[in-house]
Amino acid sequence: MSEVVVEAKDLQRVYTVRRGLFRAPAHLQAVGNISFQLEKGRTLAVVGESGCGKSTLARMVSLIEKPTAGSLTLVGTDAVHPPADRKRELRRAVQLVFQNPYGSLNPRKKIATVLEDPLAINTTLGKSERAAKAREMLARVGLRPEYANRYPHMFSGGQRQRIAIARALMLGPQLLVADEPVSALDVSIQAQVLNLLADLQAELGLSYLFISHDLGVVRHIAHDVLVMYLGHAVEQGPKARIFARPLHPYTQALLASTPGLAEQRIVLKGELPSPLAPPPGCVFNTRCAHATERCRAERPLPRLLDERLVACHHAEKFLDGAAEGRVDDAPSAVVRAQP
Ligand SMILES: Nc1ncnc2c1ncn2[C@@H]1O[C@H](COP(=O)(O)OP(=O)(O)OP(=O)(O)O)[C@@H](O)[C@H]1O
Ligand SMILES: [Mg+2]
Repeated sequence: MSEVVVEAKDLQRVYTVRRGLFRAPAHLQAVGNISFQLEKGRTLAVVGESGCGKSTLARMVSLIEKPTAGSLTLVGTDAVHPPADRKRELRRAVQLVFQNPYGSLNPRKKIATVLEDPLAINTTLGKSERAAKAREMLARVGLRPEYANRYPHMFSGGQRQRIAIARALMLGPQLLVADEPVSALDVSIQAQVLNLLADLQAELGLSYLFISHDLGVVRHIAHDVLVMYLGHAVEQGPKARIFARPLHPYTQALLASTPGLAEQRIVLKGELPSPLAPPPGCVFNTRCAHATERCRAERPLPRLLDERLVACHHAEKFLDGAAEGRVDDAPSAVVRAQP
């Protein structure tokens, strides 16, 4: 049986937002009722537009923030209330890679120090063993071991992201949470970093929670996809199914807005509602061309249809007639960049 690395059940995160002296603080639900399972060696991509709660979910899964409600199990351990003797192991099991390779590395530290610090803090390895491991890791992420003596400013964006990935891997995690890891990079460099992530996954059996607003990127890296809108999961399941035939109107619009993925553009009407005042009923109803009275009154629960979960009252409507595209099951179909 495959090994479950992350299990999230009804994860929620509510922020209390102050609105000045004379108004009561408001409650903002950044993440509402997200559930998923992520198995060893697989990639779950979380997609959705700005503000839909992707980073909040990433922070909860990487143990930076606690959920307001729901449960989170990482490598078989309750990550919300971990037993004291498992805390250290949990922290080592999950590592985070950020979007910005410029901001996430301390400019005053040599790469050697950046990579050796986690070992110095968490292991009993001696100086020379730590140095050897750091150089080994640099080679593994496609950089020259002698780069260990350089400072972050001496590297390009793509190289810095490789260094950030190397640092994340120093303690042998099982899960990498990557929050827009290639969004700040040029397209050709993006492909190289995505290929590196795919290679590392195959070599080390890593699981990835991969956050992105770019379905073009997700198409290459993901096995499964979770589409979020205003904190809610609107559609989730195998990438191949969802890309071939999206059943939620929001997923359809997202795919249609990604160059090369759809023939037809769908322009969403209206603006993204404020997360402080989400619409009643289906969170997407104010922008959905198919919305009915029922959608404005009753929130659709995720239900299983055509091998994925979809939260739409009218999803059946999109089952027939929709032309099925062809998408490969496997990830890492990234075009190898030309030298
Ligand atoms: N610490 C916080 N306090 C209050 N509100 C917050 C906090 N962090 C996030 N939010 C709000 O929660 C919602 C989700 O934010 P989040 O950063 O998770 O979105 P995102 O999907 O990562 O967006 P982006 O694509 O822009 O990175 C937003 O409305 C945001 O303003
Ligand atoms: Mg974010």
